[in-house]
Amino acid sequence: MDLKNKRVCIIGCGNLGKSILNGLVDDTDYPSEHIIATKRSLAAIESYEAHGVRITTDNVWAVGESDVIIVAVKPYKVLSVLNDIKEHLNPEKHTVISLATNVHVNELQEALPANLPIFRAMPNTAADVKESMTSICHNEAGLSELKTVQYFFDKIGTSIIINEELMDAATVLGSCGTAFVLRFIRAMVQGGIQIGLDSKTATAIVNQTVKGAADLLIERGNHPEFEIDKVTTPKGCTILGLNEMEHNGLSSSLIKGIVTSYDKIS
Ligand SMILES: NC(=O)c1ccc[n+]([C@@H]2O[C@H](COP(=O)([O-])OP(=O)(O)OC[C@H]3O[C@@H](n4cnc5c(N)ncnc54)[C@H](OP(=O)(O)O)[C@@H]3O)[C@@H](O)[C@H]2O)c1
Repeated sequence: MDLKNKRVCIIGCGNLGKSILNGLVDDTDYPSEHIIATKRSLAAIESYEAHGVRITTDNVWAVGESDVIIVAVKPYKVLSVLNDIKEHLNPEKHTVISLATNVHVNELQEALPANLPIFRAMPNTAADVKESMTSICHNEAGLSELKTVQYFFDKIGTSIIINEELMDAATVLGSCGTAFVLRFIRAMVQGGIQIGLDSKTATAIVNQTVKGAADLLIERGNHPEFEIDKVTTPKGCTILGLNEMEHNGLSSSLIKGIVTSYDKIS
């Protein structure tokens, strides 16, 4: 089947579900009519009907109309939602993808019919602008549906397949990481204001500088230190500022924060 003919439902269109919905609706290749969005209270997603998306409170109906089921409810609700839909799932037709942190593939398998392709995916909120980093793992049956699942997540950014043991670490870097980078950006802007820029100008400079630095690494595949060496003239202002940040624990505090998040999640 041409992958764009696969129909998808997003069960639980809250923050993350809506980010994925936005990414798919904006995609000119994928028909919005193939998307169903569910939620118990529909007011916040009614506007998507104008794009052709079908919305409903009925998860069982949504499953019957879909091939790929993305479960985007809070982790503590995942198993009860799966319990409601499990009798309507067919391993020959359906693929289930859970976005819940810390609900493992074996728990999902126990709650669902045998031989069903089951995935865990960990996108981030940049799905909203098609720049998510999504880490994906799967059960044995999922091997046959890798292309399908990556097709959807690549529409909202970039995806990688990893072993499930690495999912917690990937969640800290890829999902908590959004907040870490945003706080770094905010601190840069505050520094910029202190040295004379207005907030709007500082924000424009910092946002594009961060994006450009990331693009340099993504497009060239270089090590960050290689790019840093290019900017740090001996005795110049960049190395002085950078070393002052390091004396105050920049790298160390980032690493400690990442490990603290990991200890909490795992
Ligand atoms: N936020 C992130 O960056 C991020 C990243 C990766 C993974 N995740 C995972 O994504 C999941 C969702 O997180 P979130 O921040 O998007 O949560 P959220 O904003 O609370 O969204 C969950 C939605 O599920 C709906 N819901 C609850 N019960 C339902 C049911 N029985 N049927 C259909 N819809 C139902 C709720 O709307 P109603 O009350 O109207 O039903 C709510 O809007 C979590 O499992 C989280 O671990 C989040």
